[in-house]
Amino acid sequence: MKDIQITVPVTEYAYGELTDAQRGLVDLARQYTFNSYSPYSHFSVGAAIRLDNGEVVCGANQENAAFPSGTCAERSACYSAGARFPGAKFESIAIAARGVDGEPTVAPCAPCGACRQALLEYEVLAGHDVEVLLVGRDVIYRLPSVKSLLPLAFTEIN
Ligand code: THU
Repeated sequence: MKDIQITVPVTEYAYGELTDAQRGLVDLARQYTFNSYSPYSHFSVGAAIRLDNGEVVCGANQENAAFPSGTCAERSACYSAGARFPGAKFESIAIAARGVDGEPTVAPCAPCGACRQALLEYEVLAGHDVEVLLVGRDVIYRLPSVKSLLPLAFTEIN
């Protein structure tokens, strides 16, 4: 028997420490929180995905009176990217949120488990790591890949 420790690599950045490309994606994720349709939770999430063809595809959470019929911002963005640009590889994703008070969340917004699994599919398709930027009010967490967000992931049917 042996214990195995799995660590998640996270680097914290101030907005000003990001590259221009990263700042652009963060700005779009923040902007798209205003496209959220969330009359039930009042929690507004935006996501922006940069593709290897130069396009950026954004999404926002869309809720429904039948709660499970809604979708998160990350899946709104990644399925839109897949539908609009089939075959394009994901390079980077930024995720931002505003809380029930309408203000940007202090804590960097981390995707739910289902969105981690959905995003992982596109990282596997890309064949390389996809950078993840989790946006908080004052700091941004950078993870080098989606798989670092989802240790011990299920990736194929055996
Ligand atoms: N939500 C997202 O859009 N992304 C996440 O990763 C977590 C949660 C949305 C779903 C729902 O519309 C609202 O936030 C509250 O859970």
